[in-house]
Amino acid sequence: MRIGIPRESRPGETLVAATSTTAVQLQKLGYDVVVESGAGVASAQPDEAFTAADVSVGGADDVWSSDIVVKVNAPTPEEIARLRPGTVVISMMAPARSPELVEALAAAGVTALAMDAVPRISRAQSMDVLSSMANVAGYRAVIEGAHAFGRQFTGQVTAAGKVPPAKVFVVGAGVAGLAALGAAGSMGAIVRAFDVRPEVAEQVESMGAEFVTVNDPAMEAAASSDGYAKEMTAEQVAATAAMYDEEARGADIVVTTALIPGRPAPKLVTAETIAGMRTGSVIVDMAAANGGNTELTRTDEVVVTDNGVTIIGYTDLAGRLAAQTSQLYGTNIVNLLKLMTPEKDGVLALDLDDVIVRGITVAHDGSTLWPPPPVQVSAAPAAPAALPIPVAPKPPPDPRRKVFAGGLVAVLFVLAATYSPADFLGHFTVFTLAVFVGYYVISNVAHALHTPLMSETNAISGIILVGGILQVGSTNPAIAIMATLAVLVASINIFGGFLVTLRMLEMFRKD
Ligand SMILES: NC(=O)c1ccc[n+]([C@@H]2O[C@H](COP(=O)([O-])OP(=O)(O)OC[C@H]3O[C@@H](n4cnc5c(N)ncnc54)[C@H](O)[C@@H]3O)[C@@H](O)[C@H]2O)c1
Repeated sequence: MRIGIPRESRPGETLVAATSTTAVQLQKLGYDVVVESGAGVASAQPDEAFTAADVSVGGADDVWSSDIVVKVNAPTPEEIARLRPGTVVISMMAPARSPELVEALAAAGVTALAMDAVPRISRAQSMDVLSSMANVAGYRAVIEGAHAFGRQFTGQVTAAGKVPPAKVFVVGAGVAGLAALGAAGSMGAIVRAFDVRPEVAEQVESMGAEFVTVNDPAMEAAASSDGYAKEMTAEQVAATAAMYDEEARGADIVVTTALIPGRPAPKLVTAETIAGMRTGSVIVDMAAANGGNTELTRTDEVVVTDNGVTIIGYTDLAGRLAAQTSQLYGTNIVNLLKLMTPEKDGVLALDLDDVIVRGITVAHDGSTLWPPPPVQVSAAPAAPAALPIPVAPKPPPDPRRKVFAGGLVAVLFVLAATYSPADFLGHFTVFTLAVFVGYYVISNVAHALHTPLMSETNAISGIILVGGILQVGSTNPAIAIMATLAVLVASINIFGGFLVTLRMLEMFRKD
């Protein structure tokens, strides 16, 4: 069978459905591939890149008369008219929001596979174009936000003054949100994130960000059963409103990604909150295509409010990294065709019993097949099994072992005390006490504060200061000089440690 890769007709589109690399992979599955001339130019894939890889470059007619047409955007009515009945067309189609498109595809007698309807199950991850796009877009959202912010993200203490780290708040920790918080964190920002699905807290924290919680009983039922959030109840909206307000006002950059599939984007950041944000702060609203997560977002526009807050509503964030996104999209297509070409013979097999194939098939044989039967997936921890598996109880440790170990330590101690110098017992007691005190002090301090703790413990060298002061009046000049030096060095150590600690703690302090 022949696969045609057309030039995208949507104005401003930068993506292409195959790169020279992925086109070769399609050929290895037994397909002939023809790419429309100029299709990959905006993705750094000129015609020469395809011809150099032995992939045919042809005209629009060659492409649209192919057995399989693979696109990025849904085919327009004019493009559907060019398809022969029986052709397989693969693209993103937003079938839930485009019933007229699904009808038109069925009426044209084509088999339509919607790449953006891949179910969110582990086996389908390698074909999940929405995740590929959201991942790139989340990264790009932070780049756009950083560009508009006009300050650097990372905190620094320089000779010219202290630069505090930027504070980034990410709303929605799905694919785009996690990519955004990862990018912001790697650029040095302090990142906080919130999601209505509590099960994502671990992922957020594993990426070094802080998960914001809302302690309200209304939020307890928010865990997902299908990898997507449910629409919030009125109680949940009320419970989160104050948190959104506080977090947004305290942040330099807010990246909003909240989405409930098939629904308009929830309005989470109000005009009042934006009016209370600092001048120069930035909101990147990734949900702009679905109406936006803020009350002031305008789709595909950049709005600067009266108080100097920039709201970016781009819907083409993934397309702004076209070479990368086209490569990922093309790879998703290859993975789908690997699944649908089990014999690697260039013949597409439409197995509607396969949950992935069924999920993406929206039209076939003149009928619409949308929506598919629901697929249950969950990112939430599994419910506990009805019957606990009996576990054999661990035998208690043999008490004689403890007595023996204790006796051995006592004998060693008595021997050491008897045969060691007279001072030993005193020093040993101080040492033992220091071990206990040190252990309990350090184990009660959060890991993040271990560095300031280290500089605090410098103060222990204060004992040198005391010794130095006692000896500084010695009649022996050598001792007096040594004591003066000891006082000087120990003072630098102690006061320097306190200064470093103060500066570090100030970097983490909220305004
Ligand atoms: N602007 C662009 O160029 C671009 C590109 C790709 C994706 N997107 C958009 O980015 C958004 C996120 O995409 P995704 O793939 O990460 O989706 P996703 O489903 O993986 O993540 C959305 C997250 O939002 C959370 N959420 C839903 N309602 C919420 C609420 N009220 N408060 C907090 N969190 C809430 C969900 O639990 C989920 O974790 C979508 O709106 C998508 O359309 C935009």
